Amino acid sequence: MRPSFRAGLTAAVVLALASCTATPGLDPDDPDQVEVFTWWATGTEKVGLDALVDVFAAQHPDIRFVNATVAGGAGSNAKTVLAQRLVAGDPPDTFQAHAGAELTDYIEAGQLSDLGEFYAEHGLDAVFPASLIELLTVDGAIYSVPANIHRANVVWAGTEVLRAAGIDPAAPRLDLDAWIADLRRLRSAGVAVPLALGTEWTQLQLFETVLLADLGADGYSGLWTGETPWDHPGVAAAVEHYDELLDYVNSDFAGLDWDTATQLVVNGHAGYIVMGDWAEVAFAQAGWTYGDEYTTFPVPGTAGVFDFLADSFVLTADAPHEAAALKWLETISSVEGQQAFNLAKGSIPARTDVDASAYPAYQQTALASYAEDVIVSSLAHGAAADTAWVTAIQDAVSRFGTDRDIPVLLRSLQSAAAANLGG
Ligand code: GAL
Repeated sequence: MRPSFRAGLTAAVVLALASCTATPGLDPDDPDQVEVFTWWATGTEKVGLDALVDVFAAQHPDIRFVNATVAGGAGSNAKTVLAQRLVAGDPPDTFQAHAGAELTDYIEAGQLSDLGEFYAEHGLDAVFPASLIELLTVDGAIYSVPANIHRANVVWAGTEVLRAAGIDPAAPRLDLDAWIADLRRLRSAGVAVPLALGTEWTQLQLFETVLLADLGADGYSGLWTGETPWDHPGVAAAVEHYDELLDYVNSDFAGLDWDTATQLVVNGHAGYIVMGDWAEVAFAQAGWTYGDEYTTFPVPGTAGVFDFLADSFVLTADAPHEAAALKWLETISSVEGQQAFNLAKGSIPARTDVDASAYPAYQQTALASYAEDVIVSSLAHGAAADTAWVTAIQDAVSRFGTDRDIPVLLRSLQSAAAANLGG
């Protein structure tokens, strides 16, 4: 292909990409607006974003919030669109990114601006936990502002369905085998879906919690550093357990996002779901009372461990509205912003100086666990491993949902680790 023709084609592709992702209402030349990119597009997640936008409007009434959202839980669609925009040189001013390895991907690609001065100006080093700051920092520079802390290793249960099957909702389940015995009882009692499951990333999230149960916190954390080999017997045990769990899920799981899968518990079709604590809002919106109509417990085998993730917001390199984007980050980092957002989102504040007594019953359990328990990084939500590795594991786990071939899954996990740890 002649170079000039290739250049013309590339420009055309870039333009086409830019035009198909153009955000309504966005004017790159108007300094008093900020384009904020998230996947909190609908339902309970939009409620969380709306709460932030309300605080932003009160704190910065002169700046217009321009909403760039792409629906799909855990950023399943948003991350692809964002990558296209970043490559095309069409960055939003700020976007949602998980603290940890996922953030490092963007940092290494030079797509983010250092927020060191912003942190110093607002005294933020003193108000976020040191362990969280570490996940946002690379080579002494800090690249994003955390909005919340979510817990991933949570089982949510509808108590009426459990009681009808003779299961005491409050009884401790010490390990996965005890919990699988419960699933069997639900099935025998005629419950159609003992365990609700959804699309690929929800499968990955369930799988990570099973790895955590069978390897323990240190063993699980060692998977991401190379300290725990992927041919460890705990990994094989986890795959066996995961295979057993799949015997109890809804057959249409591949087509359901987290919110629809969670509704199976809310409407009484399912007994349990493993979901991050954004699910709290679905139970609260149903009018259910914690400890009465629904309850939660750590995935059996993971008590004493907080499987952590945090949403954070960045300033993109070459953000068209940099000054306005910094105002958005001010709202994210403020006590008022954190309080309004986390009360509406099911998460707990990243700031340590926010009034914790305001939080309802479920979030009190998360606050206590985050303060006392061992903290590990979530795989499905970008904290533990970079995007390439997450994608490789997610593809293997999702294929397993269809072929249930244990040796193939084990081999895929091992080769994904070899490719990503360079071993
Ligand atoms: C996570 C995100 C949460 C929630 C969830 C479901 O990755 O951190 O805030 O949005 O996905 O979409």
